[in-house]
Formats: sequence, structure tokens, C-alpha cells
Amino acid sequence: MSYHYIHIDDSESLTLLETEDLTCAADELVIDVAYAGINRADLLQRMGFYPPPPDASPIMGLEVAGVVRQAGTDSGFSEGEAVCALVHGGGYATQAIAKATCTLRVPEGIDLSTAACLPEAFITVWYNLIDRARLTRGETVFIHGGISGIGNIAVQLGKAMGCRVIATAGSPEKCATLASIGADISLNYNEAPLAEQCEAQGVFGAVDVVLDMVGGDFEQFNLACLAVDGRIACIGLMRGGQATIDLTQLLMKRATLTGSTLRRLTPDEKARCFRDVAEHMMPLVENGQIVPLMDRTFALADALAAQTYMSTGGHAGKLLLRC
Ligand SMILES: NC(=O)c1ccc[n+]([C@@H]2O[C@H](COP(=O)([O-])OP(=O)(O)OC[C@H]3O[C@@H](n4cnc5c(N)ncnc54)[C@H](OP(=O)(O)O)[C@@H]3O)[C@@H](O)[C@H]2O)c1
Repeated sequence: MSYHYIHIDDSESLTLLETEDLTCAADELVIDVAYAGINRADLLQRMGFYPPPPDASPIMGLEVAGVVRQAGTDSGFSEGEAVCALVHGGGYATQAIAKATCTLRVPEGIDLSTAACLPEAFITVWYNLIDRARLTRGETVFIHGGISGIGNIAVQLGKAMGCRVIATAGSPEKCATLASIGADISLNYNEAPLAEQCEAQGVFGAVDVVLDMVGGDFEQFNLACLAVDGRIACIGLMRGGQATIDLTQLLMKRATLTGSTLRRLTPDEKARCFRDVAEHMMPLVENGQIVPLMDRTFALADALAAQTYMSTGGHAGKLLLRC
């Protein structure tokens, strides 16, 4: 037996357990996990606020990178291939099962820790910025949480598309990191109201797309900073799920307010997103236009310490578990 996984004892206690090796269906893969990405949803799951869907693994972890251990007969993959994948739970483990349609081949020269930063961020960013908010080349995009695991990929995709990128972070140091990954304008949301900062930069009312992971009291700003025909894609609620907005502005700007959660996409929608990111985003990793921002890596057995670190908000970029 070589399968170890992190079990949730309760909200404050996790244990590394061992059981039988995994096996997969014809359209799936078993991956020997090298690294698992840590996501906010994992913290909520540990605390009991984000129960996994009934058909999902109860083990935390939504994305992994590693090597194919068993390839289902219809998967199109081969044993030994380097891959990264979205998993239906079960990522905090030494083995994980992924649908072949939710798996990407890792190009030569890209290490598995880099690859583990990609699946959740790539699909979330692509689906929201491109599919839902219709970001197009040369537009102005505003990204909240620009150095988060998700946000830094959005910043770099925006730059690769020739967009003007405005992004936020919570400290001067994090704003400097934002500038280093390509943001044209970096705003510290703790320093002064974002509307004032945008006015000072001459971009208030000029934003085509907002990638919003904050909501709450910032939602009215999101609407106010938009240009006519602007779009807001909401992916998270770091500042709360309730907001008061001026609907007059929604009308006057012909604005679009949309949102989504990755877990609720259908298998077909996920498969289509994977084809799109394989075609359009993986080449940007291969040619160095997207280099995921990584904060640090923890041992699998230290998953609780890793999640505690994420909850304090001191990190910049992706946190990983070495499995
Ligand atoms: N809808 C979906 O499908 C989907 C998928 C994946 C992730 N998400 C969401 O995307 C967000 C980022 O996820 P992640 O894994 O990349 O997490 P993360 O690295 O911890 O990022 C959280 C980000 O939120 C910012 N933030 C935290 N509190 C804030 C506040 N009060 N005001 C403004 N900004 C604040 C942080 O900025 P500073 O560190 O600079 O303070 C940080 O950049 C989370 O909300 C997550 O739930 C959604």
C-alpha cells in the first residue's frame, strides 16, 4: 500500500491515513501526486462550510500535478506521463483520480510544482474572464486580489492579451509584487478608497472587465469603475456576500454582472474549458509569458499548518502540498 491521504478529524485536526491503492474507470486516470494546490474552498471544507457534492471524494484538494500511475483504457493518456488536473476532491493525497477531460499534459521543461499551480486558476480565469466576461485584446481589466493564486494568473493572462491591467493587493510590498508580474497599475485597497485611487490614475469609469473575488462593500465600486458595456465576473466573496449597488448605474452603463463557481460547471463545460486552456493558455506557460507566482510548499502531513498560513493572508501566490 502506498496511498496516503489527509483525513478531516474535525475543523482543527487533520490526520495522515493510509489505505488501499486507487483504481480508476476507463475515462479516468490515477495520478501519483507530486504536488497538490491549496485553495480557499479547502479551508471552508475543513470547517464544515463547503460540503463536497455527494459524488465527490470527501478528501480535500481540487487540483494536483504528478505522473500517471494508471491510465483508463479510454483516457487517451499513458502511464508515466506528467500531468496536472482538476480532481473531484481527493487532492490532499499521494494518489488521486482525475477525469481525462479535466487533465492537461505538462509540457517538457515545466516542473510539477509549477504545473500544480495551474488547473484551478486556469479554468477559473478562462471561464470567467473570457467565456463569461468576454475580455478581448486591448481592453482594460481590473483584478481584485491580484497576487492570489487565481489573481496572479489573471494579471498575466491580461498582459499576454495586450490588455491594460489594474490590480489590487493589501500592502505596499504586495503591490510591488503585482508590478513585478506585469500589472500596469497596482492599488493598495487598504490605503485609500479604490474609487479615489482610480480617479487619480485616470481610469475611473474606464474599466471594461472586473474580476471580482471580494464582493461586499466593494461591489458598488466595481459597478462605478466600469465603462459603458462593462462586465463584472464575480468568483469570490472575501468581503462578504451581501452588497448594496446603484442599479441606475447598471442601466446607464448597460453593465453585465455575472458569477460562477467552478465546481458547479457541468462535465461538458469543464471539458470544453480544458480544451481551450490547453490551446490558449498552456503555450503561454511554455513561452514564459505566464509564470505562476508561488509562495511556499508544505509537506502533505503539514496540511493544517498550510491552511492556517493561508487563512492569515500573509502569502503572495500559490501554496502547495508536497505529496
Ligand atoms: N468561483 C470560482 O470558481 C473560484 C475558483 C477558485 C477560487 N475562487 C475564489 O477566488 C479567490 C482567490 O482564491 P485563492 O485560492 O487564489 O486564494 P488566496 O490566494 O488566498 O487569495 C485571496 C485574495 O483575496 C484578497 N483579499 C482577501 N481579503 C480581502 C479583503 N478584505 N479585501 C480585498 N481583498 C482581499 C487577498 O489580497 P491580499 O493578500 O493582497 O490582501 C488575496 O489576493 C477566493 O475568494 C476563492 O474562493 C473562486
